[in-house]
Amino acid sequence: MGRLRRKDEHIVIRLKQKAGLADFSHIHFVHNCLPERDLDEVTLETTLLGRKLGSPLFINALTGGTPLSKKINAALAGVARECGLPMALGSQMAALDNPRVEDTYRVVREVYPDGLIWANLGAYATPEMARRAIEMIDAAALQIHLNVPQELAMQEGDCRFRGTLQRIREIVSVVDRPVIVKEVGFGIAREQARRLIAAGVAAIDVGGRGGTNFLAIEARRSRRPLSPEVLGWGLPTAVSLLEVLDAAAGKVEVLASGGMFSSLNIAKALALGAQAVGLAGHPLYLLMKRGRDTLIQEIRRIERELRLIMLMTGAASLEELRRVPLVITGFTGEWVKQRRLRLPPNVCGVPLPPVD
Ligand SMILES: Cc1cc2nc3c(=O)[nH]c(=O)nc-3n(C[C@H](O)[C@H](O)[C@H](O)COP(=O)(O)O)c2cc1C
Repeated sequence: MGRLRRKDEHIVIRLKQKAGLADFSHIHFVHNCLPERDLDEVTLETTLLGRKLGSPLFINALTGGTPLSKKINAALAGVARECGLPMALGSQMAALDNPRVEDTYRVVREVYPDGLIWANLGAYATPEMARRAIEMIDAAALQIHLNVPQELAMQEGDCRFRGTLQRIREIVSVVDRPVIVKEVGFGIAREQARRLIAAGVAAIDVGGRGGTNFLAIEARRSRRPLSPEVLGWGLPTAVSLLEVLDAAAGKVEVLASGGMFSSLNIAKALALGAQAVGLAGHPLYLLMKRGRDTLIQEIRRIERELRLIMLMTGAASLEELRRVPLVITGFTGEWVKQRRLRLPPNVCGVPLPPVD
């Protein structure tokens, strides 16, 4: 019961949280005044985990387990179907504990029968749980979420984190679908990304700081306030993306999420090398506050603006976007230098040597 109440509380508190925005202000495009392309040539088509898609956006893990979350999942699945986007479910642990709430997740498959739906579990999951979560909704992939700060701030949180990597390794070796490891808003650094890649994951979703803040949500739920400095914990999405791209070096797909809903920031993430971009808090907010049609219009607006931005850089495809010049300044530029991150090849300046 506690777990289910928590799910709805997350939604209610998130809707009150001031919407954050991933900070890509130190990443800059260079305007191209001679693109030599027509707007109707510009395509957002991409591939993700071996599947062809018409757009690089996906709806990230949100909810499941309660009557409210069933309604939200059904509505989000309708939006994902209409826009042709992949969609991740919220953690399915509630349904593994209590099969009577499975319908709150299965509804997504009913609404979006041919959709790319991703299963979702925490890093405490066993291979058997992973297998059942995938089977429940015939998932195309499995997301495993990492959320240490959230657990620490939760009154009922699990504070035992030993053995996580080994469990991920076991899940990867047993399940027959790609495994995506994601953070929930605190980012992933190069060192841990390398370990996840060595464990065999197919993709990493950086889940950086900037959007939904689970330290703030849990501090509010538990009525145990945290200081502003601690509430600001985590790697900003842009920084985490650069960290993980360095570790990935083309070996796994890298997804960007965490406060992503500005078309310009999404374009920057894609130009840096993100394969796709996940949105969670923003679609939830629009759906609940303004309704399904507004959310669909918003996704279409983002996609339209992405195509405009691509043309203004001279790129007609996402592959070409990854080759347009970028400049990194300020805090992010300094971070890159101090961490000696290998930069994507389109970032202007001399790439720094790798440090192993
Ligand atoms: C209400 C709510 C519930 C969430 N539940 C889950 C979850 O069950 N599993 C998960 O992996 N992530 C969950 N997330 C995290 C999101 O998938 C995402 O990683 C995070 O919110 C950062 O993205 P955003 O800034 O676009 O919201 C949840 C987010 C919200 C707002």
